[in-house]
Amino acid sequence: MNPKQALIHGLNEDLKRELSAVIRYLYQASVATGIIGHELREMLKQEVGSELEHARFLADKVAALGGKPDVTVPPLVEHKTAQQMAKYDLTQEREVIKAYTERVKQAETAGELGLKVHLENMLSEETDHAEELERLIR
Ligand SMILES: [Fe+2]
Ligand SMILES: [Fe+2]
Repeated sequence: MNPKQALIHGLNEDLKRELSAVIRYLYQASVATGIIGHELREMLKQEVGSELEHARFLADKVAALGGKPDVTVPPLVEHKTAQQMAKYDLTQEREVIKAYTERVKQAETAGELGLKVHLENMLSEETDHAEELERLIR
């Protein structure tokens, strides 16, 4: 794979993660219960829009780079309690942060500097998401 192909492949992996977050947050924002559940619902109602915007950007970018956006959504991972949901969400946000850190480097290698800046902004938003979840389950 040349740098551009590797970048497209990585962006498609990111797209799948974002779509899976959209579906999971939409679901959890409707079913979470208890006091933590209340907090989680309020948080996720906000974040679902941010994850959808990330997915929209990534699909657009994959197409612009000459690739085919992969909109396959992995199966929903369910949890019973709001605490378990938040813990799982935190592991996923950390995965996303790791992935965007890698993608920023790939974008730079491929000479896609505008994309690199955009990915850095997304990385910053995901860091906020992770911090909010950390506070919730502390
Ligand atoms: Fe996201
Ligand atoms: Fe996020």
